[in-house]
Amino acid sequence: MKRPVRKAVFPVGGLGTRFLPATKAIPKEMLPVLDKPLIQHAVEEARAAGIEEMIFVTGRGKAALEDHFDHSFELEATLKERGKSAELAAVTAPMAKAGRISYTRQQQPLGLGHAVWCARNLVGDEPFAVLLPDDLILGEVPCLRQMVDVYAETEGNVVAVMDVPREQTQRYGVLDVASDDGRLATVRGLVEKPKPEAAPSTLSIIGRYILQPEVFAHLECTPRGAGGEIQLTDALVKLIDGDRPFHGLRFAGRRFDCGDKLGWLEANLAFAMARPDLAPALRRFLAEYR
Ligand code: G1P
Repeated sequence: MKRPVRKAVFPVGGLGTRFLPATKAIPKEMLPVLDKPLIQHAVEEARAAGIEEMIFVTGRGKAALEDHFDHSFELEATLKERGKSAELAAVTAPMAKAGRISYTRQQQPLGLGHAVWCARNLVGDEPFAVLLPDDLILGEVPCLRQMVDVYAETEGNVVAVMDVPREQTQRYGVLDVASDDGRLATVRGLVEKPKPEAAPSTLSIIGRYILQPEVFAHLECTPRGAGGEIQLTDALVKLIDGDRPFHGLRFAGRRFDCGDKLGWLEANLAFAMARPDLAPALRRFLAEYR
């Protein structure tokens, strides 16, 4: 791979309105799925894909995110004193290496495209990943790892995709597909949140991207699109037919929309079912509760 993907951007400035009142005073990315906040799941996925630098695009009221990836001296000292080594390890695990995590603020909620654009100076002139922590993916091989493996062959742009029911296309960026081998789809167009009758397909973007830095120049002049926001998808359209290929990867794994109450609940159950220390008791509870 000539230009490895070393940096990941996490847009975490959103208000989490679908999850109020839980997200009134805490960032939605701090909602836990089992014992880890959503943002930690996303950062761990990035690490497993070889990402070295984490870039958070935050907003007001997001200080808890920074604290989560920093030392908590009192807590660590107390756990050490009490000999709670497993808990101590859990508390220090999310820690980022010094200088390998940075934060910039999106000062106005102008959309996902604008949030990514806010990270342009931190990313610089190299390919990078984008992870939307709301989209949590359970699978044997982490989703971004699968994408980095595709990128190693194509060196282009790669987005994670899955087929959605046609009546849901209005929630997603949807692919216009030139060719499709069942795993990789070659993209010839993209539409953000099309009505079902106007959607070019049902193959939709899930919140994982590997992008070339040229996207920043396109974002610079992308007008407001769907929902009155500057959409990442609209800038991606301009990367198609550029120097590099553009693919959608049907990743292996199950995706949960954790920005949504039901999706978040399902994620908690699915992750618990995958844990031998929790699954038997949870199964008993569910059988009894029906
Ligand atoms: C964003 C993107 C959309 C993508 C989706 C995946 O939409 O704009 O293209 O399909 O994430 O979750 P949002 O969910 O922020 O409205």
